[in-house]
Amino acid sequence: PLIHRLDYQQPAYWIRKVDLTFDLDPAKTLVTSKMQVERNRAVPHGPLRLHGEELNLLRVLIDGSSVSFRQEGHELVIEGAPDADFALEIRNTCCPEKNTALSGLYTSGGSFFTQCEAEGFRRITYFLDRPDVMAVYTVTLRADASRYPILLSNGNLTDSGRLDNGRHFAVWSDPFPKPSYLFAVVAGDLVAREQRVRTRAGKDHLLQVYVRRGDLEKTEHAMNSLIASMVWDEARFGLPLDLERFMVVGVSDFNMGAMENKGLNIFNTSALLASPATATDADFHRIESIVAHEYFHNWTGNRVTCRDWFQLSLKEGLTVFRDQEFSMDMAGTPSARAVCRIQDVRQLRALQFPEDSGAMAHPVRPDSYAEINNFYTTTVYEKGAEVVRMYQTLVGRKGFEAGMKLYFERHDGQAVTCDDFAAAIADANPGSPLATRLDTFKRWYSQAGTPRLTARGEHDAAARTYTLRLAQHTPATPGQGDKQPQVIPVVMGLLDRHGAALALNAAGDTETVLVLDQAEQTFVFENIDSEPVPSLLRDFSAPVVLDDGLSDAALLVLMRHDSDAFNRWEAGQRLALNRILHALRAGQPLVLSPAFIEAMRGVLNHPELDPAFKELALTLPGESYIAEQLDVVDPQAIHAAVMAAQAQLASALRDDWIAAFEAHQVQGGYTPDPASSGKRALANLALSMLVLDARSSGDAVWPGKAYQRFKDASNMTDRLGALAALVNAGAELAAPALERFHALFKDDALVIDKWFALQARAPEVDGRVFARAKALTKHPDFTLRNPNRARSLVASLCMFNPAAFHRTDAAGYVFWADQVLAMDAINPQIASRIARAMDRWSVLAEPYRSAAREAVARVAAKPDLSTDVREIVERALASG
Ligand code: ARG
Ligand code: ZN
Repeated sequence: PLIHRLDYQQPAYWIRKVDLTFDLDPAKTLVTSKMQVERNRAVPHGPLRLHGEELNLLRVLIDGSSVSFRQEGHELVIEGAPDADFALEIRNTCCPEKNTALSGLYTSGGSFFTQCEAEGFRRITYFLDRPDVMAVYTVTLRADASRYPILLSNGNLTDSGRLDNGRHFAVWSDPFPKPSYLFAVVAGDLVAREQRVRTRAGKDHLLQVYVRRGDLEKTEHAMNSLIASMVWDEARFGLPLDLERFMVVGVSDFNMGAMENKGLNIFNTSALLASPATATDADFHRIESIVAHEYFHNWTGNRVTCRDWFQLSLKEGLTVFRDQEFSMDMAGTPSARAVCRIQDVRQLRALQFPEDSGAMAHPVRPDSYAEINNFYTTTVYEKGAEVVRMYQTLVGRKGFEAGMKLYFERHDGQAVTCDDFAAAIADANPGSPLATRLDTFKRWYSQAGTPRLTARGEHDAAARTYTLRLAQHTPATPGQGDKQPQVIPVVMGLLDRHGAALALNAAGDTETVLVLDQAEQTFVFENIDSEPVPSLLRDFSAPVVLDDGLSDAALLVLMRHDSDAFNRWEAGQRLALNRILHALRAGQPLVLSPAFIEAMRGVLNHPELDPAFKELALTLPGESYIAEQLDVVDPQAIHAAVMAAQAQLASALRDDWIAAFEAHQVQGGYTPDPASSGKRALANLALSMLVLDARSSGDAVWPGKAYQRFKDASNMTDRLGALAALVNAGAELAAPALERFHALFKDDALVIDKWFALQARAPEVDGRVFARAKALTKHPDFTLRNPNRARSLVASLCMFNPAAFHRTDAAGYVFWADQVLAMDAINPQIASRIARAMDRWSVLAEPYRSAAREAVARVAAKPDLSTDVREIVERALASG
């Protein structure tokens, strides 16, 4: 049963006020809900239909009297609901300890937590569980005082005290009307790091980070990130914290990264806890960005929310854009900003591009869904953020800030649509390239698929002109046959053959934005003396695939001289990609050209480039991005080509790797700042290259050094880096190192997740990685019940290790089907994520393709699949 975007209708009733009482008990929690219901006169009178799932209904009263009702699937229908405002009281129970789906109210480590987005509130009590129904909540929590000393909900604590039988209570009031998906409750034996802060406006706030006893010292980074986020949002967008108290809570069992519940953000501990000994630089960076993301939702998501779930990118695309901007501002230097941008784009290409060309391809604003949880995707989030970035490119940074201001002036307190956002940005910038093309620009919301942009230039020596012809085409996606041209802002410049920037116009600008809005357009530049090298799509100004037809010589000019750091990196990636694709298409072994190797040596030894940039430039394109460039995908061939390229880089640059390793040791105490983490990244890459090369040369020195570094490391980045160097090279010392690592960290679940993931993601050699990963499902520490652990092994293998997963004997697919089915009985949301490993089965080469299809069909044949998994596997089957 698909839900369609165009079927949206307002509800016949609003719920304006809710008074909730929880008698918390893991086996049977009693929920009493008293609601103030208002007739919505804009809609004809009809029955009141409330959502409810997995609940036991005890009673329903309207204005104090019992009414007749019926239960119809997941709805409670009150046929005789008055054509007037009334008071509705409902009592029901639910069972938190049996809630392994982790949606609604559940227990984890003996405490209570909630996850309501998107539709979890209906698993707590009957309600109009849709984001356009916004109510003011008062929440009374009652629970055993010794087991649950901390009782939290949204808003402000207004009362608390003791009750009989060792129980106690707390009353929370949230003054802001909110949709039910932002509701939250936490109850348990937790401790908090606290910080009082005063904002620019002179208001005082209490910030708290709640975690389990023993984790307190791992919350400092999260607290610092929270404070930095507050300062940034006020400075950049004039958006202050609107609550006296802002709470963040960590939980070990959580389906996603984190959740922006009003005033009470709930985090997966993996996105919250960090210490130098247990978290890597990447973890520190991710925590900073997720803490910021959830905090930023307070305005983009909570104060202005979504009218319906099709508008999800309204809050997610915008909030990802905001957290990306925050991370760049925090990084500081232009080079560190570029590193952030490159990492974001690499992520987009590795995850979103394949989504856009696979069975689940959908527009940033989807048109239909069976299960909304399946649409918390990298398209809605990351492509959505690129769409917001294009608004900013088209109206400028100041113009975008003015647009945001207008958006809040118009819509504060409302549940709105992506159209409302677009109108606000355009209306604040009349006459801008956005405002004059708004309808065309909005195709970014309605068309799935990654546009292909082709650029060809022609120099006319006699006329001294350079004519650039741009053409675009978006491939068909399931259900969307033909596509219209989109608005593609192409930030660009021209370089002469020595790398000097050329003036593009009489004013002498060396950079401009070409706005493509037709299938084909030409742009002419005057006074160009000789054949220039175009630098197009600078800073990745649009989420498209660019074919600029540049020669290796031109790419080398860009790589050495482009003023745009993103395009310098991109040129190097393209050089590598060209080699790899050429070898794959010709079916020949990959041989890197001397010119390419010398270019890479030049980057590695460059006196001025940042180590973090060097590390990105020297890392080859990912296997999933390479697969994206091919019509028929042979995962084993791609893996072999990448391994060959890596081995050649390792051996050809051996002396340079040694020098780089030695030159990038970080002295002093650990801090995760961009400069030190860049040095560690490059040193760890050098080490992994040296251990890899030792394997072919038979040298024992570097594996020994790596083992020593692994043992002596004073932080997790270096320890895991050294361990990965051993494991990824298949070194003999990998086994003792893994054993030692496990013994050291056996009590730290987040580190043991890394231990599983590292083994499941290791480069495949002769099927050994697959065999090891499969055996690890029997390890006493493995469980499907904890999403982080399930992901660390199953998703790592099936989604992030193509060469281990795609086997000629189909054992990977059998494993996948077994895991998806087992997981579906426990947690459909996680099962459905893992199910997506097969999104692109239909482009696989044989024998993979047929075997993959068979595995998908086996899962689809199971009669009692969740809606979540069913939607994924049926779309997969239909895509072939
Ligand atoms: N709104 C959350 C975030 O972006 C994600 C929660 C989604 N949860 C889910 N079960 N679909 O931070
Ligand atoms: Zn979000």
